[in-house]
Amino acid sequence: MKSHRTRTHIPPSTEGQPSLDELLGGGLPQGNIVLVSGTVGSGKTIFGLQYLVEGAKEKENGLYISFNNTKKDLHKIAGEFGWDIKALQNRGQLRIRHISIAKESSVEVRKEIFQLLKQYRPQRIVLDSLTMYFLMLELVEQMETLMGYNLDGLSAHVNKQLLLRLAITELYEQIKLSGATALILTERVEECARTRMDTIAEFHSDGLIILAPKKTQKEFIKTIQILEMKYTRHNQNTHALKMTGGGIQIGDKI
Ligand SMILES: Nc1ncnc2c1ncn2[C@@H]1O[C@H](COP(=O)(O)OP(=O)(O)O)[C@@H](O)[C@H]1O
Ligand SMILES: [Mg+2]
Repeated sequence: MKSHRTRTHIPPSTEGQPSLDELLGGGLPQGNIVLVSGTVGSGKTIFGLQYLVEGAKEKENGLYISFNNTKKDLHKIAGEFGWDIKALQNRGQLRIRHISIAKESSVEVRKEIFQLLKQYRPQRIVLDSLTMYFLMLELVEQMETLMGYNLDGLSAHVNKQLLLRLAITELYEQIKLSGATALILTERVEECARTRMDTIAEFHSDGLIILAPKKTQKEFIKTIQILEMKYTRHNQNTHALKMTGGGIQIGDKI
């Protein structure tokens, strides 16, 4: 049986060319947790926001968990593309939670995120970004409290890496339980193709979308590639990612 699809509604830049949903073989399989990996400026935040704005049009509630940008930043981005996210928030179709890791305790933040998933029950989630979620967890003292371990006594068997993996597994489990279709944004540094945490996250994810700048003969362009997507027959080609006044569009095959 075909799984239900969560449509991104990200259109092609030229009529007759494939949309992102077409490249996905009909859309994101509902309930998939998809890692969206890209360098700074590759379009992750805009993609995430557009995904929730399009969801609201289908009466699907969206939750944006933002470590990287404040609410004000996100409103500015939305304004650039003519998305009235204030109205969506007023109607309860969009919730934005900005978390400051400098000011808030990871124990509380983690609890609050899981509670939001249960109470608000979003159909779409964007976590921006997993890199920052990791950074929050890496504050070791808090982690000990968080997981109820004392690292000193257990260093031989239970090390920091293990606890981090445990915490990430827990995050994925909670999102999976919620049934939402989630985009987990992750920052990639160009020089090192994959960090250790990316590998852990990839292992848990149902899909991997890569956003990357590429140099063509003439210029630098943004690109998108669906490297992996479970439960669907997707296209693996790299396509140009175009920024227009209305948001992201899918350009020609590279
Ligand atoms: N109004 C706009 N029109 C065209 N391109 C834009 C606009 N706003 C942002 N961009 C492009 O998008 C990039 C930022 O996208 P963003 O989603 O914030 O990236 P990331 O979250 O991956 O760091 C900018 O570097 C710029 O190239
Ligand atoms: Mg961003």
